[in-house]
Amino acid sequence: MIGAGYVGLVSGACFAEFGAYVTCLDVDDSKINDLNNGKIPIYEPGLNDLVARNVEAGRLKFTTEFPKAISRADLVFIAVGTPSRHGDGHADLKYVYAAAKQIAKYLDGYTVIVDKSTVPVGTARQVQRIIKDENPKADFDVASNPEFLREGAAISDFMRPDRVVLGVESERAEALLRGLYRPINLIEAPIHVTNLESAELVKYASNAFLATKISFINEISTLCEKVGADVHAVAKGMGLDGRIGRKFLHAGPGYGGSCFPKDALALVRIAQEHGVSSRIVESVIEVNSAQKARMVGKIRKALGGSETGKTLAILGLTFKPETDDMRDSPSLSILPTLMEKGALIKAHDPEGMEEAKEMLPEGVRYCNSANEALQDADAVVILTEWNAYRGLDLKEVKSLMKGNVFIDLRNVYEPQQMQDAGFQYSCVGRLS
Ligand SMILES: NC(=O)c1ccc[n+]([C@@H]2O[C@H](COP(=O)([O-])OP(=O)(O)OC[C@H]3O[C@@H](n4cnc5c(N)ncnc54)[C@H](O)[C@@H]3O)[C@@H](O)[C@H]2O)c1
Repeated sequence: MIGAGYVGLVSGACFAEFGAYVTCLDVDDSKINDLNNGKIPIYEPGLNDLVARNVEAGRLKFTTEFPKAISRADLVFIAVGTPSRHGDGHADLKYVYAAAKQIAKYLDGYTVIVDKSTVPVGTARQVQRIIKDENPKADFDVASNPEFLREGAAISDFMRPDRVVLGVESERAEALLRGLYRPINLIEAPIHVTNLESAELVKYASNAFLATKISFINEISTLCEKVGADVHAVAKGMGLDGRIGRKFLHAGPGYGGSCFPKDALALVRIAQEHGVSSRIVESVIEVNSAQKARMVGKIRKALGGSETGKTLAILGLTFKPETDDMRDSPSLSILPTLMEKGALIKAHDPEGMEEAKEMLPEGVRYCNSANEALQDADAVVILTEWNAYRGLDLKEVKSLMKGNVFIDLRNVYEPQQMQDAGFQYSCVGRLS
């Protein structure tokens, strides 16, 4: 498993749990050192135990050395990052190509090289060319096996997926991959086998579609506020239609995270490269930016028109609960805008503060508890719906704060309950 990040580490540990012998390789020495010392470099529920159990059983190893990891492998997964390329939004494939070059050098015997990273259509064939150029004698096939796990629920998503997608071109590669995924097939998760290009596109199309659902309901939430409708009721009424489905219809501050923003943008770029329009996805991206900007306006309005000199308790910094991942979190665009206008930020997040310190401007005061953040605040803003913020003791919150402004960007609380508790409450797409 090349790349021991959110996807590589979870996938590697889960394959080991299924009985495979897995070596996770990363170029980041400190990550591999941590892993070899029993320390998990990311926060993902259940991952500590899963890794420890499989290391103990001798099925899971960590290394920075390519020869060790590659030469005995039947399958080599590429699970390195594919961030947005600075300046143009294309998926940056430099890590994938660097990994492919390294892998090529140490191949020994028939091996399947599998792209697990989210990569543009055509990347598997490019990886194939790179390996052939580097090592003309190598006996190998390439395959595409995009990953659909969600951070925060990654282990159960990996072990009980809705589907496994395999892009393959040879029966031998397909047989090896099917063998590896057999435990998943035993629980009747469908294995969808297709060609390389289709497998690569399934991933982008899926993420763009989910982002579309979120932007759609966010746009509807704005309308709800204007016409006196309740976005919860609208989403429920829509979602009960089996053709629409209930999931991903939660209004909020806009989608974020390490996948939707970069993958939606990359899909637009892939389409442009092929001379095809992608107007829906372009709008989804635009609506998402507008939603984040709208949240700043909402906070400003709740503060009486200006955030200058106001102290805001921010609860939650990560893009969603149960992860420490801060990549493209809405907090990264909302908080700096408020700070530029003179807001004082006291922030708390159960797992994301170390990451946040690297990514948010200086001046944010990081607090050890929600209560510390709430102390003397003019307003509280819920940015991420961690469980710890779902059942706040409202009396205590009120007594800790200087003001009574409560801005709930995740619609965790009921407007009536909050008004009864004496808050000036605002949320997203609901009458408050
Ligand atoms: N994070 C998610 O929820 C998620 C879900 C599905 C798919 N994906 C996709 O999976 C891929 C990996 O995402 P991630 O979140 O795990 O990224 P990550 O940044 O957490 O991990 C990537 C790892 O790859 C390592 N790396 C970079 N170049 C390398 C090289 N040449 N050789 C070995 N290791 C190298 C990095 O040091 C890093 O540890 C991306 O394409 C992403 O879009 C991510």
